[in-house]
Amino acid sequence: MRVSREEYQQMLESELSKTYSSKTVDHALKPRNMGRIEVASGYARITGPCGDTMEIWLSVDNKVIGEATFMTDGCVTTIAAGSMVTEMAKGKPLDEAIQIGQQDILESLDGLSEESRHCALLASNTLKEAIIDYYEYSRDKWKRSYKKQW
Ligand code: FES
Repeated sequence: MRVSREEYQQMLESELSKTYSSKTVDHALKPRNMGRIEVASGYARITGPCGDTMEIWLSVDNKVIGEATFMTDGCVTTIAAGSMVTEMAKGKPLDEAIQIGQQDILESLDGLSEESRHCALLASNTLKEAIIDYYEYSRDKWKRSYKKQW
């Protein structure tokens, strides 16, 4: 039996819906802000204890996050957490965005199972590091060319 792309998408969605909230499934299957910013003003890459890595790029103007993007090699819930944290960060001043924590992401996704909660922590930690990176290099922009990254 041949399954069309749409049928496969529906099957996947209904399978994931057994375990995850509809918001999590939506962000996992249609991730927002996935990709990189070529000339970013803040960047971080963190590998969590589970071995999954998340990267976040920020474009900052007047201490406000204009664009936030992410990439990950992680699981379904890591993709959902990266999508959600970048959505939450966009348009926020840096001092507000740096306060987005694991719990905020969990609430925005309508919760995650106990074994997936660390995916939200990886997302919030990566965002925080990207903001710290922005602060570190905003004063001395020339230093960025000496930092090994993207
Ligand atoms: Fe480790 Fe998702 S399983 S970040």
